[in-house]
Amino acid sequence: MNRRQFLRSVALTGAGSLMLPRTSLFGANAPNNKLNIALIGTWGRGEAHFGALASENVVALCDINEEHLAFGAKKFPEAKPYVDWRQCLDQKGLDAVVCCTADHTHAFVANWALNRGYHVYCEKPLANSVEEARVVRANYLKNKSKLATQCGTQRHEYENFNRVRELIQDGVIGQLEAVSTWGNRKIPRPGYLPAEGEPPKHLHYDLWIGPSPFHPYNPGYFSGGPGANCLQWNMYWDFGSGQIGDMGSHTMDIAWNAIDTTLPTSVEAKGDPFNPEVTPVKLEFHCKMPANPWRPGIRVSWYQGGAMPESPSRMLNLNRIDHGALFEGTKGCLVSDFNNRAIFPSDDKADLTYYKPRAKEALIPKMGNFQKQWIHACKGDLKTSCDFEYSGNMIETMLLGLVAYRAGKTIEYDSATGRITNIPEANELLRRKYRPGWPLDG
Ligand SMILES: NC(=O)c1ccc[n+]([C@@H]2O[C@H](COP(=O)([O-])OP(=O)(O)OC[C@H]3O[C@@H](n4cnc5c(N)ncnc54)[C@H](O)[C@@H]3O)[C@@H](O)[C@H]2O)c1
Repeated sequence: MNRRQFLRSVALTGAGSLMLPRTSLFGANAPNNKLNIALIGTWGRGEAHFGALASENVVALCDINEEHLAFGAKKFPEAKPYVDWRQCLDQKGLDAVVCCTADHTHAFVANWALNRGYHVYCEKPLANSVEEARVVRANYLKNKSKLATQCGTQRHEYENFNRVRELIQDGVIGQLEAVSTWGNRKIPRPGYLPAEGEPPKHLHYDLWIGPSPFHPYNPGYFSGGPGANCLQWNMYWDFGSGQIGDMGSHTMDIAWNAIDTTLPTSVEAKGDPFNPEVTPVKLEFHCKMPANPWRPGIRVSWYQGGAMPESPSRMLNLNRIDHGALFEGTKGCLVSDFNNRAIFPSDDKADLTYYKPRAKEALIPKMGNFQKQWIHACKGDLKTSCDFEYSGNMIETMLLGLVAYRAGKTIEYDSATGRITNIPEANELLRRKYRPGWPLDG
């Protein structure tokens, strides 16, 4: 039995039934039951993981900024430091990887880690192109019986997510017909930042660029506060996907959790005039989602940067909700943000007599801490709420919205093959171009 199998056996069967050294025998956090984790990206969003990881062995730290690496080393002084995540992933004895790097490296780190047999927690967005989303999902599905994955949409732990799912599936608005989600953030930029100065000695700029086409150094890419520096680079095509991957990942999750869907059959989009350097501020896309066993096909939409769904009622001002979801059904609508929800039954159905609330015992149980769910899953049943199948489908769909926007026409999508069937040349937009030496599926 290797160490990894041992950790799971302890969690699943209880250590008492195994012949093991005494130190292993007691509790999920006994010394030998801890995961050996590499944390990649040790400042900013990386710091948000320090608390959850403190119960485990953080044995490797990686950051392209040596000052940020030193910041992580203060918390985890025993960990071996790296500036290149490819070398970090070669460290012997790793069990799991937490990736908090810039978006354009997420799918790379996730694939390389899965291919080496590590559990992975990857910050949102899971991918920066449709191809990346599909490769990460496929690698996860290949390893699903051995590895636990979680994509960092930690608002998923809010109990509101459970209540919305119950209400929709129990028919509080009748038969579901459409879901619209939106975010009102606007971060306009003219184009990539111009060359300015030299990278400081502690910053490995070429490693930060990694697989993406080269853009000259400018300190502006690194001028944001901890956990918000992503807003300095995520609107540029080569480094992110704008609000689609940013707040879109969190907000679409409210809908995705409730509708049990996979991938769209067609997508249409419109927005700001196309800028080859910067993703659009104003954008909306609409997808046709296939039927599932409990509902017919539905329309799923995303609006951002000033585009907004029309309110179904003069009593409901959607503009007062920064990031939200509107579910529309045959008997009314439900509107939700991350923590709150409201039901608007319509017309003569407004007495709600058709709806029976769930008994307290039948409510979906609280999931508890989102990061801890993944840690427990690595040692236990491998089940998480936002694994790379769920999150891979969600980000693939959202990135298809950007593809439809660039194609300028409705795209018909064959989700089995990952091909656009009606505009052959649009298939080029499903993938990104990489610098040599950076294989996506390494
Ligand atoms: N889940 C959330 O609520 C949430 C909140 C904020 C950010 N995020 C996500 O976290 C990620 C990081 O965001 P941030 O604002 O902390 O950005 P950031 O630019 O500050 O990067 C975080 C850290 O990663 C390091 N880093 C960047 N590229 C690296 C690489 N290739 N190898 C090793 N280290 C690297 C940086 O030097 C920095 O220390 C983004 O993808 C963002 O979408 C998620």
